[in-house]
Amino acid sequence: MLEAKKLVGKYAASYVEDGMVVGLGTGSTAHWFIEEVGRRYQAGELPNIQTVSTSEASSQQARQLGLPLKQVEDVNGIDLLVDGADEATRQLTGIKGGGGALLHEKIVAEQSHRIIWIMDETKLVEQLGKFPLPVEVVQFGSWKVFDAFEQAGMKPSFRKLEGDQLFITDSGNYIIDLHLDAISQAQELANHLKSMVGVVEHGLFLNYADMLLIAKQDGTITKIERALAE
Ligand code: 5RP
Repeated sequence: MLEAKKLVGKYAASYVEDGMVVGLGTGSTAHWFIEEVGRRYQAGELPNIQTVSTSEASSQQARQLGLPLKQVEDVNGIDLLVDGADEATRQLTGIKGGGGALLHEKIVAEQSHRIIWIMDETKLVEQLGKFPLPVEVVQFGSWKVFDAFEQAGMKPSFRKLEGDQLFITDSGNYIIDLHLDAISQAQELANHLKSMVGVVEHGLFLNYADMLLIAKQDGTITKIERALAE
């Protein structure tokens, strides 16, 4: 799927126009988008763009490419955010946070006028939930939040790095992944998670994406747009 990710990541960069404030997503698909925006910038095609990143990893890549990088506080909105997704439906709902950047991704998404998700076809689903739902929690008392998830039958697991160390987000929090298998009431679940003390954010992105760009094995790209989806 690397080729599919590369294909769609690079293709998405054709939506970037000079003068835009561009949101840089996170992950192995967004990586190729950032590469191509960097190439176009270096070639002089986009001399007046500014970028806002959704993670330290993407910021580092942007700096290496010499892209003008701003903090989200320093721009007056983001014209176009291109980001990956872990699962998405034709109704443009999705799960994000497989790379652990969900909080910053959502903060940048909130400021974005247009959002494109880029993905390979394996991530297009009828129902969300096969992919474990990431929930970012503050470290203090996180085992209590974990216990609450367990008692609710939500099959939680702490996100770990190799060597059993707990994964820590760019904001210094933990991630608990919920192995739900199928999510039937996504909005209710989102509301419930937001109401829990200790939960900072969750990976349900229900009303953010305007368009999906989906790379297929045969090298073609399919678009699903909000106007068409509703
Ligand atoms: C990171 C994310 C990523 O966008 C998502 O995990 C997709 O990643 P990849 O393109 O590597 O499959 O939400 O928090």
